[in-house]
Amino acid sequence: MKFITVTNQKGGVGKTALSLHIAEYAARAKGARTLLVDLDGQRNATFLATGRARYEEGTVLDLWDDESPVPRPIASRMSFDVLPGNEFAAEVDKQPEEETQIALHRLHSLDYDLVVFDTPPAVGARQVVPMQQGGLLVVPLEPEIQAIQGLAGLLQIWTNISQEIPLALRLVVNKRIKNSTHQEAILDTLRRSPAAGPHMLPEELTARTLVPNALKDGKPVWDYDRSDPAAAMWAVVCKKLTEQVLAVDDTGTQEETHG
Ligand SMILES: Nc1ncnc2c1ncn2[C@@H]1O[C@H](COP(=O)(O)OP(=O)(O)OP(=O)(O)O)[C@@H](O)[C@H]1O
Ligand SMILES: [Mg+2]
Repeated sequence: MKFITVTNQKGGVGKTALSLHIAEYAARAKGARTLLVDLDGQRNATFLATGRARYEEGTVLDLWDDESPVPRPIASRMSFDVLPGNEFAAEVDKQPEEETQIALHRLHSLDYDLVVFDTPPAVGARQVVPMQQGGLLVVPLEPEIQAIQGLAGLLQIWTNISQEIPLALRLVVNKRIKNSTHQEAILDTLRRSPAAGPHMLPEELTARTLVPNALKDGKPVWDYDRSDPAAAMWAVVCKKLTEQVLAVDDTGTQEETHG
């Protein structure tokens, strides 16, 4: 079982949009059995993937309840399965981090090749513990000054975790406005920075209403408008990100301990 965590403590940068597209690409183009785990109490991923946000039973919170069986994921209206979010998910961040480690460890009993975590825009166990599963950390970022300020903390967390657990890092520029000299300057600084630069994907995702329109329709951008070059760029980015994880040999120790 491989893991991709999509996170950034900044809100509205495209975590959910990218999570959905990565999960869809992995399932459709790569044929990977893929589960999207919605750790955000806002449940945007759940809503966009299934058409509803509220599930009475079988939500992610059951993972924290050792008296509940591991919840059965549901089929999305795309090609992957979903573990629906819960509006009270933020409660788990108040518990010791170990509770979340135990909870996410229970995912290993499910039969998936790839698990994609969509996370809330806040530092806490629901952001950090998914990263501890290893694999790939994907950080979408908007080229705005606040986004860079928040990034240092996240890069520090990644540095600490990746010293113990193999966790690749990819920063993905999203909501790029072409010809914005303001954004150009920020990206230039980021690409030159030794902490961020080496991890940045060269491809950039532009700000386009195509993205919310496609998701409202329950589709990835490349199915919504096949002729749009921006849609093709989303597919290129998702191809790179999924191949980074799915290419890794799967015969590691985790498989042995979880059968
Ligand atoms: N490249 C883009 N162009 C235009 N709109 C976009 C793009 N990427 C994402 N969006 C839209 O921006 C909004 C915020 O994106 P999204 O929900 O994916 O961000 P988020 O980081 O998950 O936010 P939150 O922190 O609230 O969970 C959504 O309406 C989404 O459809
Ligand atoms: Mg989100």
